[in-house]
Amino acid sequence: MLYIVIFGPPGSGKGTQSEKLIEKYGLTHISTGDILRHEIENGTNLGNTAKQYINKGQLVPDEIIIGMIENKISENKNQTKGVIFDGFPRTVAQAKALKETLTQKGEKIELMLYLEVSRDELIKRLAIRSETSGRADDTPETIENRLKIYEEITSPVMDFYKQEGTFRAVTKTGTVEEIFREIEMIVDSVVN
Ligand code: AP5
Ligand code: MG
Repeated sequence: MLYIVIFGPPGSGKGTQSEKLIEKYGLTHISTGDILRHEIENGTNLGNTAKQYINKGQLVPDEIIIGMIENKISENKNQTKGVIFDGFPRTVAQAKALKETLTQKGEKIELMLYLEVSRDELIKRLAIRSETSGRADDTPETIENRLKIYEEITSPVMDFYKQEGTFRAVTKTGTVEEIFREIEMIVDSVVN
């Protein structure tokens, strides 16, 4: 199984590029943000708890996320060629927990793809998306908070994967297609 983490700040294109990776490499998409939004829509206990954090642009507590991911990994076992984690891990504690879970299964993260995008571009993209996304966290104030939390709490996850030797930065700017071409080259160099 091929396990990949797609990483980057809010609006960096994690969801957009994941869709293309799934199609090309036959991976399962595990997006913690999508799972949580689905729980909110269905009015579950998990959704009601998560909503209080998401709507303020704060992180949902690690223990909730880690439990949720462990279930998803077991559900997906053997069903696809691999998994792409989007929006997870988002704290060093989550990265360590993921490593432990995969190690127990004799698996590991092969690649951590960091999407590097300037702050101005992120704000521009999220402002455009807010017109149609219907996401409660796509308001100017919450976007600002999400970016702050990313800088303070999430960005240290990069150091974890640098130490693991799996960190790769995608620095290309341009269209979705142009960026995907750089991603393909990186993934192919790992897969082949
Ligand atoms: P999550 O859903 O993960 O949101 P996020 O990290 O803020 O990222 P986004 O989904 O907003 O952006 P993206 O990188 O996917 O970019 P996209 O492809 O959409 O998390 C939401 C919340 O859930 C968190 O704040 C937290 O509360 C909670 N949560 C989730 N996971 C958690 C965890 N592990 N632990 C704790 N809490 C958690 O692209 C953005 C826009 O740009 C789109 O409109 C797209 O069309 C456009 N675009 C993409 N690429 C390009 C391009 N090259 N050129 C022009 N436009 C582009
Ligand atoms: Mg996303």
